[in-house]
Amino acid sequence: MLRFETAGESHGECLVATLTGLPAGIPVSLENVNRELWRRQQGYGRGGRMKIESDRAELVAGVRHSHTIGSPIAIIIRNKDWENWTGALPVEDADGAEDKRKPVTRPRPGHADLAGAIKYNFPDARYILERASARETAARVAVGALAKAMLGEFGIRVLSHVIAVGPVSLRRPAQWDEIAALSTRSDVLLGCVDAETEGRMKEVVDEAFRTGDTVGGVFEVVAHGVPAGLGSHVTWDSRLDGRLAQAIVSMQAVKGVEIGFAAEGAASFGSKVQDTIHYSREMRSFTRGANRAGGLEGGMTNGQDVLVRGLLKPISTLRRPLESVNLETREPALAAYERSDVCVVPAAGVIGEAMVAVVLAQAFLEKFGGDSLVETRRNFQGYLQQVRDF
Ligand SMILES: Cc1cc2nc3c(=O)[nH]c(=O)nc-3n(C[C@H](O)[C@H](O)[C@H](O)COP(=O)(O)O)c2cc1C
Repeated sequence: MLRFETAGESHGECLVATLTGLPAGIPVSLENVNRELWRRQQGYGRGGRMKIESDRAELVAGVRHSHTIGSPIAIIIRNKDWENWTGALPVEDADGAEDKRKPVTRPRPGHADLAGAIKYNFPDARYILERASARETAARVAVGALAKAMLGEFGIRVLSHVIAVGPVSLRRPAQWDEIAALSTRSDVLLGCVDAETEGRMKEVVDEAFRTGDTVGGVFEVVAHGVPAGLGSHVTWDSRLDGRLAQAIVSMQAVKGVEIGFAAEGAASFGSKVQDTIHYSREMRSFTRGANRAGGLEGGMTNGQDVLVRGLLKPISTLRRPLESVNLETREPALAAYERSDVCVVPAAGVIGEAMVAVVLAQAFLEKFGGDSLVETRRNFQGYLQQVRDF
């Protein structure tokens, strides 16, 4: 079973992740992991924090001589901002520590602040926002880079693009090659494959920035080269669409998920929605009339690209703060403000890639198993032969 955990606070020493269950022998490039971390930090609309952090992963266990060794992998990502927070968030209490605290007494609507402070019985929300923050997703992206490394050995690639920012949305299909080209660029992008639409999306972000507001949107993760048969229809918890949905909605600020063209489908007749089935005698394989199902039918991959969309609410911390209450006085107060992003849809796409890659890698290893890459590959190739003979 492939599984991962993360630990770490937004302004603590570092983020930590462990990933257990990858077979031995998978090539790992630290440069690729760091490139993914860099992609998460980019995007038109990010705030000052991302200018401070320039994430680098340290692989401290489970990878030797550039390959996985089958043991749990441990990753550290240091927080550069920690040096400014050593007094405010010390591990051990000491004389004078009380005065250095940075309490958050005016909880921000839309954040974990209020519910978390009540639930964990803290007088203010500092410890809550430290962990609820999306800084944690840097650890997810590092883990996702390793899942991608495994999937890449089997010809599976996972990327994302932005399909909506506020009211502006992409009105044409995106081709895989366009999405792949975006992922190789090194300038600050909004991550939309259509330049004209991207221009209008940037105007929305600029307006939010000018007015002290924030804006959400929709990203789409595309998994390319996925074989038919990952996941299963037989039990509720083996259905891959459900598992992908959970993984995407577990992301900070993601409030909805869509598999394929679900919303459009719900508003159409069945004759216009299902992907017709055909057979090519030359290729000796089945083909499909479209991919509106997003590569998933009956909780299984069907061999088409897997399409998963995440719907992001606008960032909850506003420079022009919303109404709240002071936790100490219980008097009305404006919500706290800490340096914050205006739009994070492109970055969320990169995090979505990591989550989809982990879920696909889990389903892949459930089906093909193997303690070493050689063994997994042999099992996979046997299955491909079975599919060819079907
Ligand atoms: C990549 C990314 C960056 C984010 N940056 C911020 C930020 O700078 N300020 C903020 O208030 N919320 C930010 N958020 C959103 C919060 O983490 C999110 O609104 C908060 O966790 C509450 O939403 P939830 O109910 O989904 O957890 C970010 C989210 C993502 C995915």
